[in-house]
Amino acid sequence: MDFDELIAQLDLGTKIRLLTGMDMWSLPPVPEIGLDRLVMSDGPVGVRGEQWSSADPSIALPSPTALAATWDLDLARRAGRLLAQEARRKGVHVLLAPTINLHRSPLGGRHFECFSEDAYLTGEVGAAYVEGVQEGGVAATAKHFVANDFETDRFTVDVRVGDAVLREVYLRPFERVVAAGVWAVMTAYNSVNGTTMTEHSELVNGVLKSEWGFDGLVVSDWTAVRSTEPAAMGGTDVAMPGPSGPWGERLEAAVREGRVPESVVDDHVRRILRLAHRTGALRGGAAPSPTPVDGVALTREVAARGFTLLTNDGILPFQGVRTIALIGAAAGEARVMGGGSAQVFPDRIVSPLEGLGERAEVRYALGTDPRVRLSPIPSPTRAQFLDADGGVLAEHPLATGEARWLGQLPPGVDGDRLKAVRLLTTYTPGMSGAHELSVAGVGAFTVTVNGETLFDGTVDLPGGDPAAAFMAPPERRMSVPMRAGEAYELTVTHAAGALKGMVFISFTLGHADPSPGEEALIAEAVRVAAECDVAVVVAGTTPEVESEGFDRTDLKLPGRQDELIRAVAGANPRTVVVVNAGSPVEMPWADEVAAVLLTWFPGQEAGTALAGVLFGDAEPGGRLPTTWPRRLEDAPVAGVTPVDGAVAYDEGVFIGYRAWQRSGRAPAFWFGHGLGYTTWSYDSISADGTAVTVAVTNTGHRPGREVVQIYVSNGAERRLAGFDVVAAEPGQTVLTTVFLPERAFQVWQDGWRTVEGEYAVEAGRHVADPRLSATVKI
Ligand code: BGC
Repeated sequence: MDFDELIAQLDLGTKIRLLTGMDMWSLPPVPEIGLDRLVMSDGPVGVRGEQWSSADPSIALPSPTALAATWDLDLARRAGRLLAQEARRKGVHVLLAPTINLHRSPLGGRHFECFSEDAYLTGEVGAAYVEGVQEGGVAATAKHFVANDFETDRFTVDVRVGDAVLREVYLRPFERVVAAGVWAVMTAYNSVNGTTMTEHSELVNGVLKSEWGFDGLVVSDWTAVRSTEPAAMGGTDVAMPGPSGPWGERLEAAVREGRVPESVVDDHVRRILRLAHRTGALRGGAAPSPTPVDGVALTREVAARGFTLLTNDGILPFQGVRTIALIGAAAGEARVMGGGSAQVFPDRIVSPLEGLGERAEVRYALGTDPRVRLSPIPSPTRAQFLDADGGVLAEHPLATGEARWLGQLPPGVDGDRLKAVRLLTTYTPGMSGAHELSVAGVGAFTVTVNGETLFDGTVDLPGGDPAAAFMAPPERRMSVPMRAGEAYELTVTHAAGALKGMVFISFTLGHADPSPGEEALIAEAVRVAAECDVAVVVAGTTPEVESEGFDRTDLKLPGRQDELIRAVAGANPRTVVVVNAGSPVEMPWADEVAAVLLTWFPGQEAGTALAGVLFGDAEPGGRLPTTWPRRLEDAPVAGVTPVDGAVAYDEGVFIGYRAWQRSGRAPAFWFGHGLGYTTWSYDSISADGTAVTVAVTNTGHRPGREVVQIYVSNGAERRLAGFDVVAAEPGQTVLTTVFLPERAFQVWQDGWRTVEGEYAVEAGRHVADPRLSATVKI
């Protein structure tokens, strides 16, 4: 396709118009040259589409940490294909994923959305994911380029990091994914060494586009472009979202006045056209028709394969278990994904309560409620869009009291006439007493119950990050006496419209049943646990802990969950703790319970996958993609708080297990750790150049999978250099040959330099558990 010929047909104004979003999620069409509207959407666990609401549901896969925990590149590729299928179904050309920043510090609030602390594992899983998405004719977007490894002051923070560290650690996954042929890259909000990433010509034009030969599109993170010339010249091709923004007329003037060469604009346009051609949005371009994927089955498979069994005294898989005491807020209402822009709206979520209920007699107890905000009221809700006179412009059904339209109103709603959104629902309580209602959001709200006004006022947003209005909204609560079985008519009306030309409607009508108080809840859980064959406590983080826009302040399970677990384990020694978190939490009770199973954020099939693994239909296949500290104080790298606007990556290349090895301390669980349901012997290793062949035998009684991990060491420390997932029947020996990449033996010294010499090559079950060793000479 001759893109230059098409560009030659466009006047400057049209070209410039193409470089800024026409709205929240798309670039404008140019019918004269056969260019359709190019639609983008988040990622990474599903494809939300242009609507931010449950009205347009999406498959929700497990969190990226869970996908990385499978260490299975074929599975990551299949997940990518499913995402492409979802994108195509929703008319999306560009998936804004994968997130390939690193788990530098466990405090990073968005870790659930990244893969690992290890640059190599991140790059490999990222590349497989990208290949899967793009096989389906949809562009993947590697983000956030680069060093967006924490959230505090993310718009302004300057990350100070040396060249070698940048190349060997933080750029390495991007380099790998570019080599895999990714079609888009997103520039981050933060600065690196004094220059904001949307203007970072050295890294974007220099490293990414010239040195690595990236021919795809560089899209800014949302609102990250804040200048005209420096950003346009700095390598960012497209400023999102729009229609307003610092390019448009100002960029056109800069070109006319000779401050920005037109050839720069042409290159941006060329990259848009190339992407459109690749994704079928340009006449004559073709997007392949992929083989259909069964989304529900794959989501369940990824969940089970990512579940990571940290300890097991033999209680798992369950045998002869008839009664289960199922305890915890997250057992009843599964937390299946992290918060923020990664959020999607699945059309079903199987909770642990539902999943286990199909396998045994389950007795549920809440135990303690760590949630800070009330959950959306669980009754079907109508959303009415009102004009200035209270006339109904349109009405849309919602599954619960959660209302969200960001960037786009639902079809049929005229934004110019919209003045308010009203939610109406009928709620029939199951119990009598003082129910709690809440409204969470920012702006003016009126709440009524049976026509009586309960709240009428304005809720303000504390802090400076506007994204917090939907990621961590303030909440107003009210207590309402209600009687079981009686129907109550509830409404909440919110003055709504557009914010700087962008649709931004986000609020929730929350509800909680009357609570007998935490002491009584814990006592009830203990009583139920003592009466059942086993207890399963599902404990986890909340949206206030793991989301976008802020970091964590500690690694503790929120609320009284630690206390609850200890109390339950005291009442029933056969207690399994299921940890429902996207990234590390402290588990001070880990040695006091029968088993600890980490499910990450398990996606919409949470409960079915959990039941399957607990009862042994499937083995928990996960291995930690990140080291889990015993306590935050032990973590070698914790600093995510800027000092004078900067965070210095002073630890250099020593993050994750590399830092733990150097510190000489042992974490709670090492990188690579995870138990299955069978046992393995490591039989032999041989190296032929950089091809390493390992034989392992399944020495247990059931079929199983093993993640064979290869580490290289030059005496000082081990580094992951290869891995493979093998499957074997009981008694079966399998061989795998792993090819070590040249980067495993290189350092950056103004260029890649191979460090010659003898290396120990070790195969093992985790980074601190080598089983076999060979030598390679480089
Ligand atoms: C996030 C990106 C996301 C974008 C669009 C930003 O706040 O950092 O990861 O793709 O919003 O939702």
